[in-house]
Amino acid sequence: MANAKQTALILGGSGRTGSLIAEQLTDRGVQARTASRHGSDLLFDWDEPNTYAAALAGADRVYLVTPTMRIRYVNLVAIFLDLAEAAGVGHVTLLSTYNGDRAPQDVDMAAVEAEVANRGGFTHTILRPAWVMQNFTDEHLPIVDGLLIVPSGGGSEAFVDALDIAEVAVETLLDPAEHAGAAYSLTGPEALTFDDVARTIAAVSRRSVMYQDIDQEAWINGAIAAGVPAEYAKMLQWLTGAIIAGQGSRPSGDVETVIGRPATSFEAFALRSTAVWAVQEGK
Ligand SMILES: NC(=O)c1ccc[n+]([C@@H]2O[C@H](COP(=O)([O-])OP(=O)(O)OC[C@H]3O[C@@H](n4cnc5c(N)ncnc54)[C@H](OP(=O)(O)O)[C@@H]3O)[C@@H](O)[C@H]2O)c1
Repeated sequence: MANAKQTALILGGSGRTGSLIAEQLTDRGVQARTASRHGSDLLFDWDEPNTYAAALAGADRVYLVTPTMRIRYVNLVAIFLDLAEAAGVGHVTLLSTYNGDRAPQDVDMAAVEAEVANRGGFTHTILRPAWVMQNFTDEHLPIVDGLLIVPSGGGSEAFVDALDIAEVAVETLLDPAEHAGAAYSLTGPEALTFDDVARTIAAVSRRSVMYQDIDQEAWINGAIAAGVPAEYAKMLQWLTGAIIAGQGSRPSGDVETVIGRPATSFEAFALRSTAVWAVQEGK
């Protein structure tokens, strides 16, 4: 069947994966409408359910990104999915997180996965990415005065490139039947410590970058003092706690399974990101 009637609604459309997915779908002949609160084709605000129906109108597939910096949102997702089913959406690809099905009860990650998976009106695919490499090039994990400070206890994580997540999502949205019911753990090709990360950034950007471990609670309190919502502490405890406990993500091979090429290495990501670290140093 021709792609003429295929229209994807891309939530988180101004975000790291959403914006890339929309570009790639358009290049491959599927209409993509980005949606978010700012800078997308359509206004979509999770806190304003009256924005849901207009965003869904005409869409037959959805890339679902839940509200960020929050832990309670399953009720909003349920309202959205009711409307999606009523609007005739045939497939939902959910952006979850690594081990999302095993998230603590007080974070709505596993509940949202179940909400998506248990619907009869559409097929679904769940993406469970590791920590995203782009955290090191934006405000999430900046290098400040040559220091990368994150609680890790020396644990490691198979950081994944947002571009790889986007490419996997695109395949699921282009061929929902092929990926119906699948859950992909999306990782990079190697588990790295934060020391490894700092050394790689230092090497490619030719500046001094050192990793410094920090007490988990002190780091989370610092994040809250800097403006992260207090309730999000639960999420940060879970995410950093896994690494500290030596249970960070491990290379899964799922990126290569879906897109047919190996996942991007941290070094390759770093080599194309040197300009960002040069700017950070100049601040
Ligand atoms: N960062 C990581 O390492 C990582 C790893 C694994 C999984 N994840 C998951 O990936 C998801 C996206 O996180 P990210 O950090 O990569 O962010 P992102 O996709 O780069 O940005 C978030 C997107 O969601 C939109 N958004 C946020 N709150 C919204 C709201 N209330 N209503 C409507 N749109 C909203 C934002 O646009 P506006 O602000 O314009 O609305 C933006 O387009 C999260 O669920 C996160 O748990 C992240």
